[in-house]
Amino acid sequence: MSQARVAILLSGRGSNFLELHGAMVRKEVPAEIALVVSNVAEAPGLEKARSLRLPTVCLPHRHEATREAHEAKVLAALGRAEVDWVCLAGYMRLLSASFVAEYPERILNIHPSLLPAFPGRNAQEQALEWGVRVSGCTVHLVDEELDHGPIVMQRVVPVHDDDNPISLSARILVEEHRIYPEALGRLLTERWRISGRRVIFS
Ligand code: GAR
Repeated sequence: MSQARVAILLSGRGSNFLELHGAMVRKEVPAEIALVVSNVAEAPGLEKARSLRLPTVCLPHRHEATREAHEAKVLAALGRAEVDWVCLAGYMRLLSASFVAEYPERILNIHPSLLPAFPGRNAQEQALEWGVRVSGCTVHLVDEELDHGPIVMQRVVPVHDDDNPISLSARILVEEHRIYPEALGRLLTERWRISGRRVIFS
């Protein structure tokens, strides 16, 4: 089976990136990381990618006058790396419709809630404030709306009475690390289609 060339876009810690990379190295996911892009120079995930000797590029959005100018640089880097798939792994930027159109149904995101509940930042705090008894995580295909595209996989975790944002985030993160490689692996190895908002594996 041919290896998909995957780009990781990240802004921070990079633990989901490391899980994806590990699954690829163990050959659980038939893919390789062709490029790691960070929009934050100090992102720990960027440093982890460099120490793994993966191709990296840092493209700070603050250096660009417009979103389009920043995205043009990211797209050029993805093009040079001949990327097939893009995995957002804690990438805290909304992608424009024209960016998404460059990789139709080939951009994935992970989000620490059961979407459509609690999109955006601090999803775990939002869940605690709302008082939900379960939360979880979602892997979805990306469209131009925030944390919005068709859902590939979700996993539920309980919310305990004594949870705080740190404890709930840690419980959700365990499941994020499981479902992100699993979802990418299924998309790469199985037949699937999108029906309405649903990703149907056949
Ligand atoms: C993860 O919890 C991920 O779900 C979240 O950022 C964190 C990144 O952690 N993403 C979003 O909230 C996207 N809206 P990581 O850098 O350790 O993978």
